[in-house]
Amino acid sequence: GKHRVVSTKSMPGTRWIRLLTDQDCRVEICTEKKTILSVDDILALIGDRCDGVIGQLTEDWGEVLFSALRRAGGTAFSNMAVGYNNVDVTAANKYGVAVGNTPGVLTETTAELAASLSLAAARRIVEADQFMRAGLYDGWLPHLFVGNLLKGQTVGVIGAGRIGSAYARMMIEGFKMNLIYYDLYQATRLEKFVTAYGQFLKANGEQPVTWKRAATMEDVLREADVISLHPVLDKTTYHLINTQRLSIMKKEAILINASRGPVIDEAALVEHLKANPMFRVGLDVFEDEPFMKPGLAEQKNAVVVPHIASASKWTREGMATLAALNVLGKIKGYPIWSNPNSVEPFLDENSPPPA
Ligand code: GLV
Ligand code: GLV
Repeated sequence: GKHRVVSTKSMPGTRWIRLLTDQDCRVEICTEKKTILSVDDILALIGDRCDGVIGQLTEDWGEVLFSALRRAGGTAFSNMAVGYNNVDVTAANKYGVAVGNTPGVLTETTAELAASLSLAAARRIVEADQFMRAGLYDGWLPHLFVGNLLKGQTVGVIGAGRIGSAYARMMIEGFKMNLIYYDLYQATRLEKFVTAYGQFLKANGEQPVTWKRAATMEDVLREADVISLHPVLDKTTYHLINTQRLSIMKKEAILINASRGPVIDEAALVEHLKANPMFRVGLDVFEDEPFMKPGLAEQKNAVVVPHIASASKWTREGMATLAALNVLGKIKGYPIWSNPNSVEPFLDENSPPPA
């Protein structure tokens, strides 16, 4: 008989469906209208026979779902996301369910969104747009929406893995910023890039860019003008940015988060934004999605977008394809690069993206 594969959401493109149906899988896509499925909704989807599930980062994949999937004969689960803080991998392993994620295909798209937020914050794009639409523009003025020049400033990256490194490179190459980064691993390729680019600029009679690997995260917070957060969310990075750490940042710094909301103590951030009108933030993720902490929406020095960092057509189709391949690979026993038996290969932030 056919393998039953369930996707908790409709996903972009059709390639992912074809890949599965070509290999004797029957694909069932949940038609439930509500945005976030509960554990009970997903239990009903799994039913009493299910070989694999493609799920979403909004879902709580723990003991209850993995034991149910196991009882239904399932062996494979793939998150359609690179982050998997919503997945209890230990529970999955306990029930013999392999877990996959979708790294690589979203690296550049996510970095481009972090860069977009950086520019939007630096040049006050959203405030200025609202001003125009409100009919408030009555003529050019020397003081109107003055922002920050990035050239020659320092970009700080916390977590220089695939996404953090791609973002750093965009900001350095695009805007000739200097780099300071903090990561447990040395970002060798990124360092080499900055050195080579600095030499290129110098040879052209321009100010060279420089890099520094910080000994502590605090060094990045103190020295950088634009800081982007790219860690994995776990116990060690929960509320990484808190009142104390906000207080050591420059008064006119820009903070970007396109990783996971709980990396920032959002209530503390709201207070900081209120007290420091020149401090600006660009947020793609929030502590209690889909909600924002009280006061955040009223802050003009915040640019907020609804968790869209990986939302390019190419990337979303790629994520769906990869998620399908993860599940298919496990069901069929294929050795595929995104080893669906474990998420371990992707725990190394410096592992290269797939060719
Ligand atoms: C999105 O947030 C992802 O982790 O892919
Ligand atoms: C993982 O989060 C990455 O940087 O790709």
